[in-house]
Amino acid sequence: MNSDEKLVKIDKLRTQVASCTRCSLHETRTNTVPGEGDANADIMFIGEAPGRNEDLQGKPFVGRAGDIFDKLLDSIGLTREQIYLCNILKCRPPSNRNPLSSEISACVGSLDLQIKIVDPKVIGTLGNFATTYVFEKFNIPPQKISSVAGCVIDIETPFGPKKIVPVFHPAVATYNVHKTDLLISHFQAFKPFCSDPKSCPESIV
Ligand code: URA
Repeated sequence: MNSDEKLVKIDKLRTQVASCTRCSLHETRTNTVPGEGDANADIMFIGEAPGRNEDLQGKPFVGRAGDIFDKLLDSIGLTREQIYLCNILKCRPPSNRNPLSSEISACVGSLDLQIKIVDPKVIGTLGNFATTYVFEKFNIPPQKISSVAGCVIDIETPFGPKKIVPVFHPAVATYNVHKTDLLISHFQAFKPFCSDPKSCPESIV
């Protein structure tokens, strides 16, 4: 798929998500939060679900977790314009509760399409929910995020080879400021893929 086709498809998906009623979260949302960034990016990040600020603005990671995420991106020399950023859920769960498995099942068709369209070389999973879903999708044996955070996992997919990099969710640093350094150290796993993805080192896992 060429760049223009990707843009058209991502735009169409955005319109479809905006009118989605596949689960009850549509009843309480202000805006859908489909995702944003470069549809031709080499690196895609997947978070959990929109929070209050994201719901109000229709954009991913614009609250406190977003400030941390920007810091983490900055630590590897990237900006949001250079990546694609989305979530497992496109609507906010009331009171920011955890996504229900029924909501995840209803919503991940959109994420699957985003992965197919953007076709990133590297997928960064932010936190437990994104890591669990992506591991399952690509048949990676389930592992605790604490044992794989910051590791690069090579996989073969129907769209060619990809690398999965699980990291803790940036929100952990909003509860515990000391976690910022840990997150920054895990984010360095993306660095080899930031400028020239062909110069990847051997993967860790
Ligand atoms: N947390 C997420 O997982 N996604 C957002 O967009 C905001 C906070």
